[in-house]
Formats: sequence, structure tokens, C-alpha cells
Amino acid sequence: MKDLSRPFIRYQIALSDRIFMAKSTLSFVCQNCGAAYNRWQGKCDSCGEWNTLSEEDTSGATSMPVSIRSRRKGRTFKLESLTGKTEDAPRLSSGMTELDRVTGGGFVRGSVLLVGGDPGIGKSTLLTQATSLMARAGHRVVYISGEEAVAQVRLRAERLGLADAPVQLAAETSVEDIVSTLSEGAVPRLIVIDSIQTMWTDTVESAPGTVTQVRASAQALIRFAKKSGAAIILVGHVTKDGQIAGPRVVEHMVDAVLSFEGEGSQQFRILRAVKNRFGPTDEIGVFEMTGLGLREVSNPSELFLSERDIGSPGTAVFAGIEGTRPVLVELQALVAPTTLGTPRRAVVGWDPSRLSMVLAVLEAHCGVKLSGYDVYLNVAGGLRIQEPAADLAAAAALVSSLANAPLPTDAVYFGEISLSGAVRPVAQTSARLKEAAKLGFGRAVLPESARGEIGGDGGGLTLNSVGGLTSLVAEIAARGSPRNAAGNAGAGRDSAAPEKNATPARFRRENG
Ligand code: TYD
Ligand code: MG
Repeated sequence: MKDLSRPFIRYQIALSDRIFMAKSTLSFVCQNCGAAYNRWQGKCDSCGEWNTLSEEDTSGATSMPVSIRSRRKGRTFKLESLTGKTEDAPRLSSGMTELDRVTGGGFVRGSVLLVGGDPGIGKSTLLTQATSLMARAGHRVVYISGEEAVAQVRLRAERLGLADAPVQLAAETSVEDIVSTLSEGAVPRLIVIDSIQTMWTDTVESAPGTVTQVRASAQALIRFAKKSGAAIILVGHVTKDGQIAGPRVVEHMVDAVLSFEGEGSQQFRILRAVKNRFGPTDEIGVFEMTGLGLREVSNPSELFLSERDIGSPGTAVFAGIEGTRPVLVELQALVAPTTLGTPRRAVVGWDPSRLSMVLAVLEAHCGVKLSGYDVYLNVAGGLRIQEPAADLAAAAALVSSLANAPLPTDAVYFGEISLSGAVRPVAQTSARLKEAAKLGFGRAVLPESARGEIGGDGGGLTLNSVGGLTSLVAEIAARGSPRNAAGNAGAGRDSAAPEKNATPARFRRENG
């Protein structure tokens, strides 16, 4: 220490500080993953994306002059024990059952939640409804819009019939201003920031919307949430490939990530937990977008089956489980002769590699030759299925389309198919059967071994158990009949009738 008091050394330290401060802290930050480089390059080495690097001043975010950093003495803080008392009611219900289901029972005090989704999918609508219900229940709720003016938010609330709810509104984008304002008065129970991409903080130089800004803004807001105990919802935009734009980094910082999905042309919206530190990640919330905002759908099966194409070949009803809730949904398959060298395989709402596997098993073990056919598979209603239990329903739909044999309209299917062609049991058989019975189905096609689990009691359903895929294929092929005999061929389809009529015969010839 004595050495440092010498004037010459002090001068040297001062000089080195000056050099440090004068040094440029411009760097090139990948707008996709947040990796920083000190020179420009076309491709980000970290995430492999092209043309995502842009120049940003990261001085405020990363470096403080060494002298300041090392001279500041750390503040002492109190260490706590695990058995300490925690404030009660750590969860706050949103007043919307479907939203609570996905968050795991309500918003957790001091937690930060990111809601991602395509523009126009209904994020602002969902959060306007949730905040209004909570405000009506007597909680202090704040809605900060960085995208719309106060008048626009009011207009939406009016349209939703929620204009009387005592939500505190503001159109602001400066994080410092927001934090100062919210630090005054009673701590809000919930704060909505719509959207995180529009927020900016003084501590970094980059433009709003850049990764550095989004990360720094999110950090400041997360710090505020943890300190004050308020729950914060950040809205995040999604890029065309489904990533939450830019701030993938934010996904790691927050406690939960919810994704709001739906087909643009359809009214169903599905809220899904992608990450949740305080609850399950396999639950979905189902909503319907109406002229009066989002309506909660407590029985999604009814919705997904409401527009069933009854009696046409290529459709099978899958009895699935989403989280803790059984969901019945229609799988639609189309197997058509190909004109291409490599036949097409297209799938919406299911895992393409599982489709390939089912096709391979059909080909290898059941003699169903599909190499000359295009195969399309669609999950109705915009639902995305992740369960392997859908294998059996998918296989049934595919064979039904190929054989032009409509499946029984009152049957549901579930079961996992192994590579050997065996049909394996899946979890929660009785819940699936109960839901099917509730919706008026009369029979279930299920794995043989599942019978043991439920003790042969189908809850009113006729159980048709299959041990292997081969027997199911034979059964469906035997039902194959010319389309005209199906009795419901539409006039438009008649032109295709000769070709279609040939299908069962060809199926039997080729596939024995
Ligand atoms: P919005 O919540 O603004 O979407 P996001 O915040 O995700 O961008 O929703 C916009 C869409 O929702 C818009 O296309 C109109 C539709 N909508 C309705 O159909 N009914 C309604 O009551 C409301 C408020 C919106
Ligand atoms: Mg919006």
C-alpha cells in the first residue's frame, strides 16, 4: 500500500484509467442469440445464423472503469435460513381458469413471465382481459404499453366491455421512468409490459429493440420484480421461425415462458408453457377469439371435434392427454399417388420424424407400400400433439385413406407403436376412455396390454384391443369399399371417383 502513495505510480494508475475509458467499447452483437464479437462477420459462430450481427455500444452493459469497480466496497447483506417465514398467498389468480392452468395456479409473487406469440395472435387482448379481472378483484394492476397509445388500449378495453376495471394504464418506454413510478405507493401485484422490445434503458447506448437494450431492460425489470415482490409479465414478439425475436437471452432470465399459438384462419388459440420454474410445462390453455375478446374453452375436445368430417376415409379420432386434461382431436390423413420422384411427406401439428417412423413400420411389418404415394397428415383445430400415443391414430388414419375405408365414426384410437410393429400401452388409459365416453363415443381401439391396467372396464365403451399393427391394418383394409358405396360422396368428388374406386383393389393387390 505504501508503494501506491508514490506520486509516480499514482500518475501511472490515473493514466491507465484514462486509457481504459477512452477505449472504444463498440462490439458486434448477434441479434438472434446475443453473442458479441469485436469485428463484423457474416455468420454468427454461436448460433449459426447469417447476417444477424449489428454494431452496438455495450460500454454501459459490460464495463465500468477498473478504478471505479475495484474501489467500490461491497455492501453487506443479511443471510437467511431456509426455514424463514414467507409471506402467504404466493400465487395470485388471474381470474381466468385457462391462464391459471398454464401458469401452474396463478402468478407467483416476484416472478417474471414472458408471453410470446405472433403479431395479432391476441397477446394484448389476453393480458387486457386478465389485468381487468384482477383489478376488479381489488388488486393493484398496472398495464404499460410501449406500442399503443393510452387511447388505443382504452378502446380495446371498451370493446371487451372492461372499461370500468380500475387498471392503471400508461404508454411508456423508459425502464428507469417505469421503475421509479412503480416504486411509489403500494407495490402493484401485477405489471404488464407490452412489449419488451419497445423498452429502453439509459444504461446502454444501443437502439431500442436491439439485443443489448432488450437484455438490459429485462434485467432492470427482473431486478425490480425480485426486490418489490410484484409479478411482471413481459410480452415478446416472435420472429417468422417461431423464436421470440432477438431476446432468446430473455428466455433464460425469466421464470416462465408462455407461448400463445394459433392458426391465423382459425379462432382457436392455445397457450402453452414452454418453460416454467413454478409449474408444469405440459399444460395447455385453450381460448377462442370472438368479437368480444377471448373466450375460455373449458372442454377443448368439443371444440376440436365440432367440425368433424364424419364418414370420410382418412380421419381418426385420437384420445390424447395434454398435461392433466384429456383432449380428443381428429387426425386427418391423405395418401395420394405421387407424381414426383421423391414422394412428399407433409405434416401439420405432429412430429415429422414420428410420421416417418409410422410409415416405416407400416411398410416393413404390415406390407403397406407407401413409396409411390404422397402422404399428408394434419391435426385438426391447430393443436400440436407431442405424445407418442398418437401413433396408432395416425396409422389408422393413413391406412384408412390408402384403403379408402372410412373408420367407424364412434371409435377413438390411442397407443404407441414400437419399431417392431407392436402396439404399446400409454399412460392414463382410463382418463382417455372417460373423456371419449363423455363425448358419446362407443368404442376405443387401444393397446392390448392397456386392458390389464383398467381391469377390462371400458367405462361404457366397447374395447377393441390390438396387440400389433398388422391386425389393425388387416381390419381396416377389410372395410375398404368403393367411395360411392360410402354413401356420402359429394358431387365435387365424383369426378375423382374412378381413380378412388380403384384404390381398395390396388391396395389389396399390392399389399396382400
Ligand atoms: P392483439 O391482442 O392486438 O394481438 P397482439 O397483441 O398479439 O399483437 O389482437 C389483435 C387481433 O385480435 C386483431 O386481429 C383483432 C382480433 N380481436 C378480435 O377478434 N376480437 C376482439 O375482441 C379483439 C380485442 C381483437
Ligand atoms: Mg399487442
